[in-house]
Amino acid sequence: MTKTKVSDIKELPGVGAATAEKLEGAGYRDMLSIAVASPAELIEIAGVTEASARKIISAAREAMEMGFETGEEILKKRELIERINSGSNALDQMLGGGFETGAITEAFGEFGSGKTQIGHVLTVNQLKQNPEAMTVYIDTESTFRPERIIQLAESAGMDPKEILKRIIVAKAYNSDHQMLLTEKVEDLIKKDKKNVKLVVVDSLTAHFRAEFIGRGTLADRQQKLNRHLHTLMRLAETNNLCVYVTNQVMAKPDTFFGDPTQAIGGHIVAHASTYRIYLRKGKKGSRVAKLIDSPSMPEAEAAFIVETGGLKDI
Ligand code: GTP
Ligand code: MG
Repeated sequence: MTKTKVSDIKELPGVGAATAEKLEGAGYRDMLSIAVASPAELIEIAGVTEASARKIISAAREAMEMGFETGEEILKKRELIERINSGSNALDQMLGGGFETGAITEAFGEFGSGKTQIGHVLTVNQLKQNPEAMTVYIDTESTFRPERIIQLAESAGMDPKEILKRIIVAKAYNSDHQMLLTEKVEDLIKKDKKNVKLVVVDSLTAHFRAEFIGRGTLADRQQKLNRHLHTLMRLAETNNLCVYVTNQVMAKPDTFFGDPTQAIGGHIVAHASTYRIYLRKGKKGSRVAKLIDSPSMPEAEAAFIVETGGLKDI
């Protein structure tokens, strides 16, 4: 856990109200984001001189109490992890018992591979597992379906109306909006005292990808995506909540990535996700999930089917 001695960026030398506002507007809201920024970023965003950018960054670094923890402390934290069941034992087992809180799980795969279905299923299952909890569903492709939630809730023996009341849906119209909504989740938890235990971002990358085709450079996009993922990681860790994100694969070979089946966002998304699941369509309408690059679980595959009532083992 990283703690800060000085928590308000306005307390940094050379950061007045105007500079603080520019920094916060660009998403640099806490000490850590400034401590890891480059002078060039601050010069561009806040219009400060290079000397003053360096001073701000080094003061932010000074202010950070770098958190060293013992293995025992980490183990204790891991004992607090909750796992959301998917309905498919095979899929849960592949993930060590379900979708973890305190972590980001990413599902990537082609259209129709089941990414959105998993988002709906996890939403209902976690609301059933934890009667006090809420879900935030950040919907970037307008594919959230209350009708589907009702079906799943009914077959889970839950009151669909009660379940729907506990889902906060936020439609994101572009990548900036998506980033802002994600940052606001912290306010929902801290200010509005909502007990959010699952955040779904479906899709994580679609807006970033579409906008990149229209404007900007790959580096800009990756930098934004990186910041977005850090917001999600912080949400997951500081609130012990589960983040589930979906991601597409490249439809055709791309000079920037090479591999035609690679997930969007390249190593930035790969690196930030604690668990990565590659989904593909299997035989007889089944779906096959493959766990990739997990910190503690072996590479494995799990097959399941999507039914009206949810995910089921084959
Ligand atoms: P994109 O967002 O297009 O990239 O795809 P996705 O990976 O999100 O796919 P999605 O989760 O939307 O999967 C769609 C598939 O789920 C459909 O082709 C169906 O096979 C299945 N499915 C969706 N709804 C139902 C349902 O109510 N009952 C059943 N049995 N299957 C469903
Ligand atoms: Mg989808």
